[in-house]
Amino acid sequence: MAHAHSHDQLDWSARLGPMRRADEVESDVLRTVARRLLALLPARPVVVDVGSGTGGMACALAEEMGDEGGRIVLVDSEPALQAVAEARVREVVGDRVDVVTVLGDAMELADLVPPADLLWASGVVHHLPDQLACLTALAGLLRPGGLFALREGGLNTRCLPWDLGLGEPGLQDRLIAARDAWFAQLRATMPDSVRLPLGWNLALVKAGLVDVASFSYLVDLPAPAPAPVRHAVADWLGGLAAVAGPGLAQSDQTTLRRLLDPDSPDWVVDRNDVFVLGASTVYLGSVA
Ligand SMILES: C[S@@+](CC[C@H](N)C(=O)[O-])C[C@H]1O[C@@H](n2cnc3c(N)ncnc32)[C@H](O)[C@@H]1O
Repeated sequence: MAHAHSHDQLDWSARLGPMRRADEVESDVLRTVARRLLALLPARPVVVDVGSGTGGMACALAEEMGDEGGRIVLVDSEPALQAVAEARVREVVGDRVDVVTVLGDAMELADLVPPADLLWASGVVHHLPDQLACLTALAGLLRPGGLFALREGGLNTRCLPWDLGLGEPGLQDRLIAARDAWFAQLRATMPDSVRLPLGWNLALVKAGLVDVASFSYLVDLPAPAPAPVRHAVADWLGGLAAVAGPGLAQSDQTTLRRLLDPDSPDWVVDRNDVFVLGASTVYLGSVA
């Protein structure tokens, strides 16, 4: 087995709860995306989900395979997330779909996964030092005619009204800007980091893929939102606060503490004016 590790020094296991809850609230839209991708594949496809996290998309793909089934390979470098993903997919699809797990690094999967009809990589490639080398390595896991589906980019998710009635208006814009600065620093200090001065469509072409195209989908969970969505908003805000909060002014940090404290009268989960609105882009390319 490959030595499994991420390259970004992030503690992915600490994100298990928020990732799991995000999977739940996005399950309907993920199933729509899964259906669209599976329509492009042969029957009983082999699907490899690299950086599968807590398995939200793997569940959607496995469910949408229907009675014919297929095989789904869950690849991640973090065992705690992979265990959750595996249990969740098995619970959802029973024996209809073969479920295989590979604990490994996205850069070192040759010989560890079967030739894939679909390679799904969502939100993982931008955590690798050399993103083009990673795309090229992942493309090499596809069988001839196989489809690469890369989810990267889109629009920043927004969840809060502009004026929350506490602190200064515009908190989420300042958080997103600080998060972007944190991410740039993360990439700049990652060992062996290489810039990718291209859009993802051109990167897929450079990785040797043909018929490159893209589409985007909305995640639109409007206000007033049910409790699971409001908890997902708290997760989103907590995630941003963890990486971007220290860079903000004291007044914004105070606002964040109040919004994130379940004992505060300002706990964000108790607000009926929060929502989830974002857009994700899926880049497609095929092996000639
Ligand atoms: C942002 S999460 C995305 C999870 C899921 N694909 C999604 O879109 O919700 C990144 C995932 O990639 C995994 N990961 C990070 N670096 C990796 C690497 N070098 N090889 C394999 N998986 C990696 C993390 O453990 C985590 O599960």
